[in-house]
Amino acid sequence: MHAIVIEDKHLVWAEVPDPEPAEGEVIVDVTASAVNRADVLQRQGLYPPPSGASDYPGLECSGVISAVGPGVTGHHVGERVCALLAGGGYAERVAVPAGQLLPVPAGLSLVEVASLPEVACTVWSNVVDRDRLRPGETLLVHGGGSGIGTFAIQLGAALGARVLVTARAEKHERLRALGADLAIDYQTQDFVRVVRDHTGGRGADVVLDIIGAKYLARNVEALAVEGRITVIGMQGGRAAELDLSRLMAKRGRVSSTSLRARPAADKARIVAGVRDQVWPLVAAGLVKPVIHSTFALAEAAEAHRLMESGDHFGKILLQR
Ligand SMILES: NC(=O)c1ccc[n+]([C@@H]2O[C@H](COP(=O)([O-])OP(=O)(O)OC[C@H]3O[C@@H](n4cnc5c(N)ncnc54)[C@H](OP(=O)(O)O)[C@@H]3O)[C@@H](O)[C@H]2O)c1
Repeated sequence: MHAIVIEDKHLVWAEVPDPEPAEGEVIVDVTASAVNRADVLQRQGLYPPPSGASDYPGLECSGVISAVGPGVTGHHVGERVCALLAGGGYAERVAVPAGQLLPVPAGLSLVEVASLPEVACTVWSNVVDRDRLRPGETLLVHGGGSGIGTFAIQLGAALGARVLVTARAEKHERLRALGADLAIDYQTQDFVRVVRDHTGGRGADVVLDIIGAKYLARNVEALAVEGRITVIGMQGGRAAELDLSRLMAKRGRVSSTSLRARPAADKARIVAGVRDQVWPLVAAGLVKPVIHSTFALAEAAEAHRLMESGDHFGKILLQR
């Protein structure tokens, strides 16, 4: 088969051996994959795959099952699926633990569903499973125009929360159309002041943060009493000082998670939660894929250049 391999920080379409299904795995013939910021970091040598994962980039895919390994029940050759991966999605075929497979929700094509597994699992596991966002609460999402952000806005709104986002001004109209109550221009506005003003001084109940160090202290200032901050990205650095008295005064919580390195059993639990709680919202049209553009899989390097430019809104797909 062919796959995108990383050679000297470049993406190269190369001939590689076919994967074999191990115990509990299926082989998926890939129809589409999608680009995540983590793939760019992996290509740059800054984010090696976890041990046991494929060396090829690609944290999600859609396609058709072409082989079923030993010990797998409930799946069959010819089944249309999408999947959360630890790597290997930029390829013609990929081995997937059966617990990381998801069905294709009604109304979506096999190409567009490739945009969902990574963002759905990341956002649901943090905002719903971990931070217990409740109807009527305020969710602050940093980087509203990202793949993660465009999904988090829709999920938060569908769950009855008020969603506030930070993003560059040119993305604001599209963010409001997705369900954001308010978009904040992080280049010209102080998000702490705007969040406080907009919530009558209360602050955000849940903060989903991709910036890290640069926003830590300000996230605490923007937090409501009993608020929860989860940091899932470090685009603004990894080391910061935290004034615990400010956090304590709010009885606040700061946590951080990474999906990719979680054990397979954890991922299977998250995937099951997404199937039960998020997929019905997708099938009902309340949460939709937000796809900026689609490249041929062999042209993944072009897709990475687009992601690095920051000009995309939502997801960038790779189609075979
Ligand atoms: N921990 C995990 O398990 C996990 C899983 C998935 C993703 N992530 C992380 O989530 C983040 C988003 O991933 P993605 O693939 O969706 O990336 P992406 O589409 O490339 O999004 C990056 C976003 O960062 C925004 N941004 C840059 N500087 C900002 C600032 N100062 N304030 C607010 N927003 C800012 C950009 O918004 P503008 O265009 O408006 O500037 C852009 O939308 C990445 O950091 C990724 O590593 C973590």
